Amino acid sequence: MLKLQKLFDVSIVSYYNLTLIVETMEKGDVKISDKIKIFIRYNTWKKLYNLIVTGIMIFFRKTYSYNYPIVVYIEPTNICNLHCPGCPTGVGIPSNREKNTLKLKQFKFFLDQIKDFVYSINFSNWGEPLLHPDILSMIEYAHRNHIRTCMDTNFNINISEKKAESMIKSGLDLVTVSLDGFLQKTYGKYRRGGKVELVKRNIKTLARMKERLNSDTPEIEIQFLIFSHNINEVDAVKNFAKQAGAKFTSKYGRRPGIEFDPHPDEPYAPEYGDCIFLLTITTLNSDNGLAPCCLSYYKKDDFGELTSDFNFKRFWNCENYIYSRALFSRMKKVRRSASNVLKEKKLESPCLRCPYYTKKDKRYGQMGIL
Ligand SMILES: C[S@@+](CC[C@H](N)C(=O)[O-])C[C@H]1O[C@@H](n2cnc3c(N)ncnc32)[C@H](O)[C@@H]1O
Ligand code: SF4
Repeated sequence: MLKLQKLFDVSIVSYYNLTLIVETMEKGDVKISDKIKIFIRYNTWKKLYNLIVTGIMIFFRKTYSYNYPIVVYIEPTNICNLHCPGCPTGVGIPSNREKNTLKLKQFKFFLDQIKDFVYSINFSNWGEPLLHPDILSMIEYAHRNHIRTCMDTNFNINISEKKAESMIKSGLDLVTVSLDGFLQKTYGKYRRGGKVELVKRNIKTLARMKERLNSDTPEIEIQFLIFSHNINEVDAVKNFAKQAGAKFTSKYGRRPGIEFDPHPDEPYAPEYGDCIFLLTITTLNSDNGLAPCCLSYYKKDDFGELTSDFNFKRFWNCENYIYSRALFSRMKKVRRSASNVLKEKKLESPCLRCPYYTKKDKRYGQMGIL
């Protein structure tokens, strides 16, 4: 009976881990049948092997990890043309990083060390990726190396037919466009400095060029962050998405203040499950800093640097990674001693401040700033 119970627990944990991996792998609101198609499209034997090793590492909550990440975040630039009040870049919170654009050469040097194992790259972090002059070359390089490519954008630069054609030809798989308002006065309350009609026009241009070139990609996804000022325009943007042949997804954004809260009287108790990011993803920032997670913003929270002698395996198992992974061990004793060691060794880890670890969250504040 005990054995049966154990087998049941193991299956539940394995299934749970699998769903976490799938969630990490496929960005966007993706149907299960499409998830399978994407998986088959980008899979190789090497990636599958790495995926299995990753599953084992997660199952045993290993601190020294024998896998490679399956998803990578690349920050082409930390410069932005808008001033969203809930984004640390938008309001100019000092991260102790210069304003940068990642060099194409550095990006290739980094990717070359892990490209055989990575399923997907998200070209966005703390800035507007389309402001980078080489963004499409980066996407093209990843695409040529058989990696799914995704990008979040505020779409506030002019997308001519020629530019749309280059986006399509780069091989970009998914573009998630931030559009959280139908009218300018609504949209501009969060996307400060942005022009809603320009975003809509760009979406239509891209959709038209996809049709003209008979291309299924990039899939266009419109992402609507719900706040108090725009909740009445969700349906209008949803209809716009439908007409433009784009997918629509909405979610509650991190609220920069009570005035943005659509439900200030509701109790707020978000559930933070297990974090598997330390074993599945990594982030290259535009200043060559390497962070364990796309939620971390400050330079001091980086775990490494892309120097000329950079070695991914060494970085992936550096002390910061090992002790941060130990924070999520299944054993209470290990978790407790990990936080002490981090403090004793004066090692920075954004995980110590992360809601996945502390299990506490504030309803208001800057997104991802930890
Ligand atoms: C920092 S942005 C960078 C990409 C691009 N500049 C943009 O805004 O789409 C990355 C993602 O964070 C989202 N975001 C912005 N403010 C947010 C908030 N308060 N809560 C949750 N997500 C937010 C953006 O909509 C985007 O999908
Ligand atoms: S959320 Fe995006 S558009 Fe807004 S300030 Fe941040 S990086 Fe710029």
